Amino acid sequence: MQQPRPDRGVLGVLASGTGSILEAILGADLPVAVVVVDRPCRAMDVARDAGVPAQLVARTDFGAAFDRAAYTARVVEALERHGVQAVAMAGFGTVLSAAVFERFPGRVLNTHPALLPAFKGWHAVRAALEAGVAETGCTVHIATEAVDEGPILAQESVPVLPGDSEDSLHERIKAVERRLYPATIASFLTSINDKLETRT
Ligand code: GAR
Repeated sequence: MQQPRPDRGVLGVLASGTGSILEAILGADLPVAVVVVDRPCRAMDVARDAGVPAQLVARTDFGAAFDRAAYTARVVEALERHGVQAVAMAGFGTVLSAAVFERFPGRVLNTHPALLPAFKGWHAVRAALEAGVAETGCTVHIATEAVDEGPILAQESVPVLPGDSEDSLHERIKAVERRLYPATIASFLTSINDKLETRT
């Protein structure tokens, strides 16, 4: 376990899974202030091992009665508490409602494992495989309330190979995401740098 980093971050990362994209973001030395997860997951350990605060905003309801607005308010509160000024979703398993996009207008980024606008949704890799396409890829975009929409910042394609499983194809895509997403986040942060609040 590394020593905690000084609080120098402006970026909040949202994750739910194995955190391999988060690992790449941290490895690129981006200014991560906090990692927020919606369930206990490896991404929490990845954050802690890097000395970055990890905050579990536990989602307990996965049914139709889920209060998305109330949950989103808790996520926004966690991000604000850590002085976040831009957000990077890295495999976050909960669709957030308008409040997060209003609080960080044009400053919520997402990486998606397909060439948007093709194959939106949580099962993008499986959908590409089932569609029999020869190529798929990943897209980094500015996220909006409409899921997997918003201005595209970067895209890169990967081939679908004979005998691919969902896992093998997803891993090929993630290998690209681990390079493309941190690089795109870095350029994005540079481009909004003069609009960031200076903290003392
Ligand atoms: C990434 O492939 C990311 O694009 C995807 O989750 C994976 C996270 O990987 N996100 C989505 O599908 C969102 N629609 P990780 O848990 O290994 O970091």
